[in-house]
Amino acid sequence: MYLCCSGFGTLADPSFDISELATGTLLSRGYQGEVYLTCSGAQRLVTKKAMGSFPVRIIREYMLRREYSVYQRLEGISGVPRCFGLHAGKLLVLEYIESQSFRESGKPPEHRQRFFSELLEIIQSLHRAGIAHADMKRKDNILIDTTGSPYLIDFGAAVALREGGSFLNRFFFRQACRMDLNAWIKLKYRNRFDNLSEADQHFYQPTTMEKWARTMRPFWQAATFRRWRKARRNR
Ligand SMILES: Nc1ncnc2c1ncn2[C@@H]1O[C@H](COP(=O)(O)OP(=O)(O)O)[C@@H](O)[C@H]1O
Ligand SMILES: [Mg+2]
Repeated sequence: MYLCCSGFGTLADPSFDISELATGTLLSRGYQGEVYLTCSGAQRLVTKKAMGSFPVRIIREYMLRREYSVYQRLEGISGVPRCFGLHAGKLLVLEYIESQSFRESGKPPEHRQRFFSELLEIIQSLHRAGIAHADMKRKDNILIDTTGSPYLIDFGAAVALREGGSFLNRFFFRQACRMDLNAWIKLKYRNRFDNLSEADQHFYQPTTMEKWARTMRPFWQAATFRRWRKARRNR
């Protein structure tokens, strides 16, 4: 039996049962819901499920629907997991990427130069498809696969350029594209913005919001005891 989730992609498995997809090994419990590693026959899949009680769950389901529509626009772009659909408007089914997140890896990828040029290619392909990721500063949203190549996940906060979109839509899209490229620079140069190569300099264009956030960060960190909490976590 071939079971097709709403949208595109088919899941081929005689014993496929959608209720099984909703369970599996918990990979993460994040701000959008729960993420599970699950199986359909020999195929390993990731499912993302909106959780929580009303009204939080309604907002998360809305974000999941947005994320699904973004994945539809990104179909076929390498460095983005395949999407197998959104089941019953609540369960996003994705290709599982055997990987570590950029955060988990804790150190720069082995082939730094290759990694960052591949990551830049993915970002630029996204932008050409009219999608800006807008949440790349979160290092969990960048995966490093077993060959050392990057993948981008988590399009819950992505900004989509709409056909015939308003001035505001185009403005926010352009800002979000700049944020993606700034995040790429930040990761590549590990915040040492003085070391930017000539070729990379034009990629770094902090937005007004980012400049403002940078000014406010020390005050925010002091107010929330961030350094103290981090030191305690690492103890
Ligand atoms: N396609 C995938 N392949 C492998 N791991 C994934 C995949 N999607 C998500 N994950 C894992 O689950 C975590 C949370 O997923 P994410 O989509 O970022 O959820 P959230 O919106 O809650 O942040 C990721 O950091 C990653 O470790
Ligand atoms: Mg995430």
